[in-house]
Amino acid sequence: MRCGILTRKKLRLAVLVSGGGTNLQAMIDRSGAGALKAEIVVVLSDRPDAFGLERASMANIPAFHVDYKSIPKLAAADLEKLDLPVDPADLDRRQKIVRNPDPVERRSRLARLVLAERELIRIIDSFQPDYICLAGFMRLVTPYFINHFNAGGLKILNIHPALLPSFPGQHGYEETLQYGCKWGGITVHFVDEGEDTGPIIAQTVYPIRPGDDIGKIRERGLLLEYELYSQVINWLAQGYVLLKSSPGGRTRVEITDPNYGAILAGWIEKATVGRDVSS
Ligand code: GRF
Repeated sequence: MRCGILTRKKLRLAVLVSGGGTNLQAMIDRSGAGALKAEIVVVLSDRPDAFGLERASMANIPAFHVDYKSIPKLAAADLEKLDLPVDPADLDRRQKIVRNPDPVERRSRLARLVLAERELIRIIDSFQPDYICLAGFMRLVTPYFINHFNAGGLKILNIHPALLPSFPGQHGYEETLQYGCKWGGITVHFVDEGEDTGPIIAQTVYPIRPGDDIGKIRERGLLLEYELYSQVINWLAQGYVLLKSSPGGRTRVEITDPNYGAILAGWIEKATVGRDVSS
């Protein structure tokens, strides 16, 4: 199955951020320079003070804060009364992300996420994006959110600062360094119901040298993040992303860009000898 659109039309992207939004900025800059076959049509954040919202506003992109924090904790009785778009017990059976052993606490957490996601979905849908790009969005997304967008194919992308399946979760750079890895990695993948487990679209690596600290490797990695995310978006826009089912049942991605080898080599060169990322 081929993802993306095979026309010359630009993709419409919704970008979700929680913090500084340098990946968002890289997309905005590349889109403005004509190097990204996409336009960012809306930016959303779970945090009112996310600088990514300001970056969007400065680029005249509609920006919204969805207030996760104001949704109160829910007791078991509240769960019964809530008018939710999905049944929390059903969601709980399907989800793989909230691991609290207490089922009421788990369902309560999922229900609160769903309430916030209902608002995210309402706003995102009104902009009709082709893809949802998570770019440093630090909230778990539930199967409710994922299935809403994935009904017609994989539509949610994430960038992860490690070479998956190693070091999933929120501390990719830290865990890569602490483990003693000699190479760190960046992954762009489709989002599925697990934690950073969806089909991998693109990966690259950068060297970790003696004496490197977390600041140094994050700086090196982030420059590659910008390259990777925009390349994946361009591949999707050009129809170069193929989904294949493997015998084990796992969906794999194949990139059909005739320049694939050269692009990968370019990333490695940038990470090892290029002035941008080797210092
Ligand atoms: C990036 O390292 C990304 O891989 C991770 O969160 C960070 C976001 O950085 N998911 P920024 O907000 O784009 O600067």
